[in-house]
Amino acid sequence: MSNRLAGQVAWISGGASGIGEATARLCANEGATVVIADVGEAAGQQVVNEICSSGGTAVYTSCDVSDSDSVAQSIDATVQQFHGLNIVVNCAGIVHVGLLHEYSEADWDQLMSVNVKGIFFSIKHAFPHLSRNERSYMINVGSISSLVGQRATPAYTTSKGAVLSLTQSIALDYAAAGLRCNCVCPGITDTPMLRKHLNTTPDPDATLKQRVRRVPTNQAMQSDDVARTILYLACEDSAGVTGTSIVVDGGYLAAAEWDTADDSPVAGDDA
Ligand SMILES: NC(=O)c1ccc[n+]([C@@H]2O[C@H](COP(=O)([O-])OP(=O)(O)OC[C@H]3O[C@@H](n4cnc5c(N)ncnc54)[C@H](O)[C@@H]3O)[C@@H](O)[C@H]2O)c1
Repeated sequence: MSNRLAGQVAWISGGASGIGEATARLCANEGATVVIADVGEAAGQQVVNEICSSGGTAVYTSCDVSDSDSVAQSIDATVQQFHGLNIVVNCAGIVHVGLLHEYSEADWDQLMSVNVKGIFFSIKHAFPHLSRNERSYMINVGSISSLVGQRATPAYTTSKGAVLSLTQSIALDYAAAGLRCNCVCPGITDTPMLRKHLNTTPDPDATLKQRVRRVPTNQAMQSDDVARTILYLACEDSAGVTGTSIVVDGGYLAAAEWDTADDSPVAGDDA
């Protein structure tokens, strides 16, 4: 255990799985009281049990981030139980694969409600509590698709662009109240969400191997890689940083094109 978040209460949506789960474990390990706000009760409770048995403090609250009342109840319960709130991590997210002309209006609305409206609800209900602190922190999880387009996920890409814009707006509007708001943009990260997608292909491991050829480090990110950046933005290590994004993608966006398997010599190699 370390102590960077001692005395802090962190509310983490999507904390039952993947990047949110890794963030919950890391924040607890840094001394925070962690509230996992998720629709996945069994998974959330299991993460809580594991955190508590390693000496941390965590609780699960049932929360559907697309429902304003549900977010309000989860945040109010947090504040009632722990007498405050310092850190909000908006990590809950869903993806929908398909072409726009095949989407139903309900598919579009559901994705936007979880990925974007959930952030609106979190600030709406958390700000009255966050504003009591001298300093507080919001970290929104975007994606490399906050910055570039991706095939066959138009609503997701739109939602992640909005996550970045919303991050900037929140940062500006609440800076004077001591809230810093930033966005973390992961690249291909090996989580249950990614595995679910890969499992729709005939050979998931081969598909992953093929996909990470586009990544200069030739690896998928691990949830912990992303969680460490979230932790940095959730404490004074990042003092002065607000309204921006940090990309954690193994160099994906640095290259217009890349194929790790291509080891052909570059002009000038033998100069
Ligand atoms: N895995 C990747 O490659 C990747 C890349 C870029 C960005 N992201 C983003 O990272 C975040 C976490 O994704 P992950 O890969 O860890 O996925 P994951 O599926 O492992 O975890 C997502 C969590 O969100 C929860 N959730 C879903 N809908 C919810 C709702 N309405 N209310 C509350 N909780 C809800 C799920 O129950 C789950 O616990 C998402 O915002 C995702 O878009 C993931």
